[in-house]
Amino acid sequence: MASWDPQQYERFADERARPFRELVARIPTTSAVAVVDLGCGPGTMTATLATRWPDAAILGLDSSPAMIAAAAEHRSAQLTFQLADAAEWRPQRGSLDVIVANASLQWVGDHETLLPLWAAALDDGGTLAFQVPLSFDPGMVAVAARERWAPLLGGASGTTGPRSASPVLGAADYVRLLSGAGLTVDAWETTYYHVLPGEDPVFEWFKGTGLRPYLDALSGADLEEFTADVKERMRQLYPREPFGTILPFPRLFVVAQRA
Ligand SMILES: C[S@@+](CC[C@H](N)C(=O)[O-])C[C@H]1O[C@@H](n2cnc3c(N)ncnc32)[C@H](O)[C@@H]1O
Repeated sequence: MASWDPQQYERFADERARPFRELVARIPTTSAVAVVDLGCGPGTMTATLATRWPDAAILGLDSSPAMIAAAAEHRSAQLTFQLADAAEWRPQRGSLDVIVANASLQWVGDHETLLPLWAAALDDGGTLAFQVPLSFDPGMVAVAARERWAPLLGGASGTTGPRSASPVLGAADYVRLLSGAGLTVDAWETTYYHVLPGEDPVFEWFKGTGLRPYLDALSGADLEEFTADVKERMRQLYPREPFGTILPFPRLFVVAQRA
């Protein structure tokens, strides 16, 4: 499993915060006593849930020790964090009011099995809300598939592109799956047109997420050369303009409530 770097992830904190806020704003559950943030990362966004549900015990779960260590800084009487793999997480039936998973389920397989189990964990009025990036290749998947890199990167894959075997389903599949589990489902897609500052900002963005499996698989001169190849491809796909670099980023949102 590739390692996560909380500092690199937080470099685009504002851009990454927006989908979280827009997801949470659509959750209809007004009062909550038990809230879980699945794949909570460095806990920055988890902490904002305390304002929305001031009476709730809020638990952030993440499978990365580095992320859980960073999240510890937000610990309080209301907020706790634990190391846990979402794939193994089995909450008790009817025990939760809100489950949030922002930008994390694209790293977790078998949604067909897990989502109904999590839906069953919701109490009446409770909501399961998640957001996942929609599959696209910002340059790295195509570079990794080149003859030069395929033998070295055969086992690595990012969250996007044809080699990734992304576990993310289509919006209609989630509507069917969660309606079948007894929830009322609101699903939508949005493309954000982020304007990123600085040199090679698209590389810097994905270095904190989808590029990690590739970069972790290389070292030394290979790593330098692959980095140069990916940066060059990304500059072609997302040219720098006088005001910054435009990164169109499509995302899928699902908010499902047990009425
Ligand atoms: C892109 S970050 C999102 C962090 C946070 N939800 C946010 O909105 O800022 C993805 C997080 O999912 C976590 N993650 C990946 N696979 C996971 C799994 N199987 N179980 C729990 N967390 C996982 C990663 O460690 C990482 O912290």
